Amino acid sequence: MKILIVENAEIATEKAAKILKDVVANSPNPVLGLATGGTMLNVYKHLVKQYEQGGFSFSNTSTFNLDEYIGLKEQDPSSYRSYMNKNLFDYIDIKITNTHLPNGTSTDLYEEAISYEKKINELNGMDVLLLGLGKNGHIGFNEPSSSLGSYTRIKRLSQDTCKANKKYFTGNNKMPTHAITMGIQTILDARHCVLVATGTEKSSAVRDMIEGAIASRCPASALQLHRNATVIIDKKAASTLSYIDDYLYIHPDGDDVLLSH
Ligand code: PGA
Repeated sequence: MKILIVENAEIATEKAAKILKDVVANSPNPVLGLATGGTMLNVYKHLVKQYEQGGFSFSNTSTFNLDEYIGLKEQDPSSYRSYMNKNLFDYIDIKITNTHLPNGTSTDLYEEAISYEKKINELNGMDVLLLGLGKNGHIGFNEPSSSLGSYTRIKRLSQDTCKANKKYFTGNNKMPTHAITMGIQTILDARHCVLVATGTEKSSAVRDMIEGAIASRCPASALQLHRNATVIIDKKAASTLSYIDDYLYIHPDGDDVLLSH
């Protein structure tokens, strides 16, 4: 694992955006895995800014999002499709037909999960997959106790996640109880995983992910098995790590030049 500890959330999210940009700028047919959530808003803001500065195009890029709520239509303002359009796709030259999210309104959700996984494989897998981290250690909607060998499937959202995401559902808009999510093995199959976590509220999940046992009680701990995982965290999220001085020594200022994982 490359553990990059930077001063604040602004720097962390800008760094993550730059990694995505470099993949898009340097691959003939880039395939990105994308995440949603509050932390990612700033990653996409930086990516759009970098795009506007010119020099690269998303015209050959394909994307696969980690997850989507079950029961929300694409055009529902709380769907992850709406989130992605509103925060990224509307501002870049990507072909919308090359952007993929699981269809949470499919009449056959089991088949939908299988065919999502198939589509990722048909494009030869993800070059880089962006990940957020839940306060409970989830990645995608792989909640604690998820199989570390799982592929895309239907999951019930944990009570912690319902509490954390309730704010995105207002009025009569009830929060769904289930989602389709890439599995942990789907995530581990990406050629590069880039996880971004910021703020004190993530510090205990960050500690479990990096320094805890590999265990389904913290699904993100499975990233310890990945050969090419980069974790970008700010000082607040890093605040409870036991070996913070070592990580800062290896990558001073979140510098990742030349060093391996
Ligand atoms: P957040 O969500 O960025 O809104 O904290 C992260 C996640 O749950 O994956």
